[in-house]
Formats: sequence, structure tokens, C-alpha cells
Amino acid sequence: MTQDIVILAAGKGSRMKSDFSKVLHKVGGEAMVRRVLSTAAQLNDAQLHLIVGHQGQQVEQACQDFGANIVWQTNPQGTGDALRRAAPSLTADGATLTLYGDVPLIQQDTLERMRALSTPNTLVLLTITLDNPHGYGRIVRNQQGQVTAIVEQKDASAEQLAIQEVNTGILLAPNAKLQDWLAALNNDNAQGEYYLTDIIAMAAEQGVDIVTVEPEYEWEVAGVNDRVQLAALERVWQQQQAETLMRQGASLMDPSRIDIRGTLTTGQDCIIDINCVFEGNVTLGKNVEVGPNCVLKNCTVADNTIIKANTMIEDSQVGDACDLGPFARLRPGTVLADKAKIGNFVETKKAHIGAGSKVNHLSYIGDTTMGAGVNVGAGTITCNYDGVNKFQTIIGDGVFVGSNTSLVAPVEVQQGATIAAGSTITKNVAADQLAFGRAKQMNKNGWARPTKQEK
Ligand code: UD1
Ligand code: CA
Repeated sequence: MTQDIVILAAGKGSRMKSDFSKVLHKVGGEAMVRRVLSTAAQLNDAQLHLIVGHQGQQVEQACQDFGANIVWQTNPQGTGDALRRAAPSLTADGATLTLYGDVPLIQQDTLERMRALSTPNTLVLLTITLDNPHGYGRIVRNQQGQVTAIVEQKDASAEQLAIQEVNTGILLAPNAKLQDWLAALNNDNAQGEYYLTDIIAMAAEQGVDIVTVEPEYEWEVAGVNDRVQLAALERVWQQQQAETLMRQGASLMDPSRIDIRGTLTTGQDCIIDINCVFEGNVTLGKNVEVGPNCVLKNCTVADNTIIKANTMIEDSQVGDACDLGPFARLRPGTVLADKAKIGNFVETKKAHIGAGSKVNHLSYIGDTTMGAGVNVGAGTITCNYDGVNKFQTIIGDGVFVGSNTSLVAPVEVQQGATIAAGSTITKNVAADQLAFGRAKQMNKNGWARPTKQEK
């Protein structure tokens, strides 16, 4: 059966006090609405419909890659109105699951449990029992315990306000019946809105089975109305990620001081120290150590590598048993072969560094291909830019580059060559040559220092 999934994202979100649509604010580095779309897309036979309105163009653009059917709800008049706009696109014999762009952490497992109960004559509600039900629609049940209606906070009697079982908003309804119910909605209520929740009483009257499912965790159905709630959900999400990593065999020095804004995959026995930030897709092999305050973005790190404090890595690949930092910066296009060493205050960019090569101190290596077993002395700079164009530096296997060397690209230093310290290298160096590129030292005998002149 086709699973139509309607995601409501047309609301104004005025309490966010933002120029950006509420649903585009991020949890775990991903826009809330994109999290919901991702979860929804994992259900079998999912047909996604995204309801947009306020700042709808932003939302539409940010979610393009999901290929959802975009439904415009200009002048939003309630959750029922939102569903009515989508009604013409719903499949005839399917069922429709309603989700919310500002309820980002709903779990696939919960939705699967709802789906397992769905039939052409069943309405499935996701409800939750709260100590403080204020603000939510209340689940009204009869003497037999059957659900008969949902009453909104603003329309509820004193007796109904005491009900602690509330509507999460997430529900699954058979399309053939849903179409009739949506057509019959009115806005005769305290908020003058078309309430989606009014379909429950209609279903009850028609003898449709109304069944309820509870989520495993309360945070799955927590919505975001302001930045305080956004921050609270961010902490929930981070805690979930941290627990997953630990269960998979990574050690976190403090699970409350790691931030994963994307996807982090760790091999067994990784150790991650405090205050590290992982962005985009990061994969660490087995037994990788990450020191405190590191930022890793879109990179892979192979087994047994040690990344010391305050190292930043972006769009790079790091081999096995490498040694990085402290204070190393690997910029996009860096590829390190096994056992390479990049030390403190070294910046690399578009640089391939061969196996076992070392750039240990205070250097810039950009647009460079370096062989294996190279030793680069402190303060070496590849001068890759003439102000307009970038040029390549090629360094062969086993080269020794003395400290404080400038390699003016394009230039090639062939294998086994030695560069004297303090050189400015502008010409290619052949294999096994010694290249000197510095002013010759002069020593003067008996030099008398100048004395201070009387005024
Ligand atoms: C709704 C439910 C309530 C439930 C609560 C859970 C109704 C009538 N009430 O109330 O029973 O307890 O959610 O949080 O459904 N939206 C649109 N278009 C609209 C109206 C809303 O896209 O025309 C979106 C909003 O952006 C928001 C969501 O739907 O993301 C819920 O709307 P909101 O007005 O906040 O519903 P509640 O009053 O909280
Ligand atoms: Ca409302």
C-alpha cells in the first residue's frame, strides 16, 4: 500500500525571531525538516508531500534533493487546512501519515509500529501521556476506553483539561475516508482554524477503529517553537549519538562534550577527548585517538592514527598510523599516506604526502605532491601562488628539505636530493643533488661596533 507522508512546514514560527524558516534551523547539523524527510523516506513505498507556506521558497530550495511533492499553503488556516491542500495529490487507496517539520527526532521504528496497525478502516494516533499536558490537544476516551475525539486546549472543558494523554499531532489515516473527513472540516472553534484533529470524532462516529501508539521516547515527539527548545533537542540528539558511538566500541572522555553535526562513524577502540566537533561525514578507523578541541569535517582517518589537540581537518584523507598535531591544519585536498607526520602549526592544502614523510613544524605545503620518506624542515613554505595562478611543487622520495626553505613553484626536487637550510629554490633539483639557494656568508675580521653619538 502506498504510504503518503505529508510533512507540515508552513507555519510562521514567530517565536524563533528569525529571518529563516523555523524548520530550516538545524539539529545535529541538519535542518529539522530535512531530518523528518530523511526518516520518512526510509519507509517503504513512501510518497513524500511537503507543505510549505511562510518562507516557503527557502524550505522548497533546501529540500529539493528529496524530490517531495511541494504543496503550497499560502495563508495557512490550520493543520486541517494544510492536509486539505495536499488532498488532491494523495493516492486513492493508500494511507496518509502526517508529520511535522518542527518535530525533528521522530524515529523510524515508531512510525513502523504505527504502520503495522494501519488498515482501510483504522485510524492510528501517536499519543503520549504527560505530567503537564498544557497546550496540547487532549485524547478523549469513552467508558470502554475507545478514543472518541481530540479536543484542543483552547476548546477544552475543565474536565477535559485534566486529561494527561495528549495528541502528538502525528497520525496515520486511510485515504479513502480521510478525503471525506477533510472535506467535512469547518473552522467553528476557538482559534477559527481548520483542525486536523476534528477528523477523530468523525472517524469515531463512523465506527472506524481508532488505535493509539506511544513513542518509546518523549523527545521523539517534542516540537520546537523557540531557540530554547531547539537547544534542548540538540542536547538530546548529541546524547543519542554519543551513546551509539560508545555502544559501538568508541570511548568518549566526556559524552556530554562532543558535538556531531552530521554523521560520525568510528572503528573499535577509538578514543575521543573532550570538545571535539565532527561535521559532515567523518569516518575514523580502528584505534584512532583524537585529542581535545579538534574539528574534523568530511574526512576519513585510517586505523591507529593519533590526532593531537587543536587539530583541524577538512575534506581530507588520512592514512594508517599517521601522527598529526597538536595545532595541525589539514585543508581540503590533503591526502596523507600511512605513517605521515604533520606537526604543530603546519598547514596543508591540496597536498599528497607520501608514506612516512614528515612535516613537523611551522610550514605551509600547498599544491604539492610529495613522495615517501621525505623530511621537511621547520618553516618550509611552498610558494604556490604568484598572485594570479597556483603552481605545483613536486618532491621525490627521500628528499631532505632544510629548515626555512622557500620552494617557488612550479618546481621539482627529485628523489634523494638535499636542500640546504634557508634556501629559496626556484629551479628544479635533480636526484641526489645538493641545492644551495642562499646568499653566501661573509665574515669580517675585527669588526668594531658603532658607538652612540653625542648630541
Ligand atoms: C497541534 C494539534 C494538537 C497537538 C499539537 C502537538 C491540531 C488542531 N492540533 O496543535 O492536537 O497536541 O499539534 O504539537 O492539529 N502548520 C501548518 N499549516 C497550518 C497550521 C500549522 O503547516 O495551517 C504546521 C505548523 O507549522 C506546525 C504544526 O503544523 O509545525 C502544528 O501547528 P500548530 O499550530 O503549532 O498546532 P498546535 O496548536 O500546536
Ligand atoms: Ca495553532
